[in-house]
Amino acid sequence: MDISIIGSGYVGLVTGACFAEVGHNVICVDNDQRKIDALLAGNIPIYEPGLEDLVQRNVAARRLRFTNSIKDGVDNSQVVFIAVPTPPQPDGSVDLSFIERVAREIAGVLTDYRVIVDKSTVPVKTGEKVTEAIKRYNKSNAEFDVVSNPEFLREGCAVADLMKPDRVVIGSPSDRAVALMKKVYEPFLAPILVTDVNSAELIKHAANSFLALKISYANALSAICDASGADVEKVADGIGMDRRIGRSFLNAGLGYGGSCFPKDIAAFIAISDDLGVPFTLLKEVQKINQDQKERFIKSIREKLWILRDKKIAVWGLTFKPDTDDVRSSVAIDLVNDLVREGASVTAYDPKGMEKAREFKLLPESVKLVSSALDAVDGAEALILATEWKEFANVDWAQVKARMATPMIFDGRNLFDPATMREHGFFYKSIGRPSLGRK
Ligand code: UDX
Repeated sequence: MDISIIGSGYVGLVTGACFAEVGHNVICVDNDQRKIDALLAGNIPIYEPGLEDLVQRNVAARRLRFTNSIKDGVDNSQVVFIAVPTPPQPDGSVDLSFIERVAREIAGVLTDYRVIVDKSTVPVKTGEKVTEAIKRYNKSNAEFDVVSNPEFLREGCAVADLMKPDRVVIGSPSDRAVALMKKVYEPFLAPILVTDVNSAELIKHAANSFLALKISYANALSAICDASGADVEKVADGIGMDRRIGRSFLNAGLGYGGSCFPKDIAAFIAISDDLGVPFTLLKEVQKINQDQKERFIKSIREKLWILRDKKIAVWGLTFKPDTDDVRSSVAIDLVNDLVREGASVTAYDPKGMEKAREFKLLPESVKLVSSALDAVDGAEALILATEWKEFANVDWAQVKARMATPMIFDGRNLFDPATMREHGFFYKSIGRPSLGRK
């Protein structure tokens, strides 16, 4: 198949590379000339395991190329994917101006039948608007179908998620469009669910909200465990073994962050309000997520008493491991909260420090160092904010020797309480009984 993808950001680039990998001819389009130049020079603007190899291999095989011209993309493909940002507005609703602009631009160059696929996360009924816009701006009256095909990839394992999806959702009333979409996805051997456009659009917000609800449920349980002395990991195992519930996304911690969950839950609340059927349950999901970070800071205050001038080490800045993405990261919020209270913070992250500085997400006073051990030098407390694997393999004797006082606050339940006790640390995690030196 000949495919073009408009928007070479996270979703667009990974999708394009994976489509090329299974043998399609792919044109990735972006209006940011610097990004296109970087990609043409073989530089991948994001860190995602496996992506660089995939891009280089498929560019070399001439199955993947980059351009800044939408006309080039539309002229030379049967299926045109839209994968542009849909950022939140201050009230939580979705800004659809990039989608609208791309729809207009496609309409301006459309001369023959094309399937136009929305891959960006959009509110239900956006497909109808895209169809109207293309009809309005297309002078040659070309035939086209608009399809909703939401993306479910997770950062950090995006390539694997795309190559082996749990399901592919195709929302379209047109047999012609569905047949072409099935050809696009045939090589992935995934279950395909065909729906109407509105249902497909809704599936994306409903799925992400449900996952966030699971996390908040586990976090609410962790508060009950902290108050009662039970162990939230055991409780999650116990309920997760019921196949109707499932163990995944029940890990208690500092709460969810990232560029999807916070934005999508806020959007779904705004969408349901707009439709006159407020989804109030999701407001509680948001509140539990916020409370979780506050509860964690409270537990640090309880131990350190006053945070002003305390030297605190923080491990992890990205919103989750195996990514360099620091957008809407709870770890970043946490560091900012600590600095506001007067703490002196030294932080280390394997991949996220550059972007944290570039986007000015941290106060200047926060010291960034080049190793986990350097971060703990002279620290009165160590906070684990993102569960990178390398933190699980540190030399605890050295950590203890370098710290001023051996106290660990584990915001992701990464370490084993008994091991921490053996090493002589005071250890507090989330919803698990505190073991260790008092
Ligand atoms: C999410 C969805 O999983 C994906 O399907 C969608 O396409 C985009 O949004 P992503 O944001 O990349 O993907 O990361 P994910 O792995 O889902 O984690 C999101 C946040 O939830 C992270 O901050 C993570 O730390 C947190 N989380 C996840 C928990 O706190 N507990 C869990 O059990 C799982």
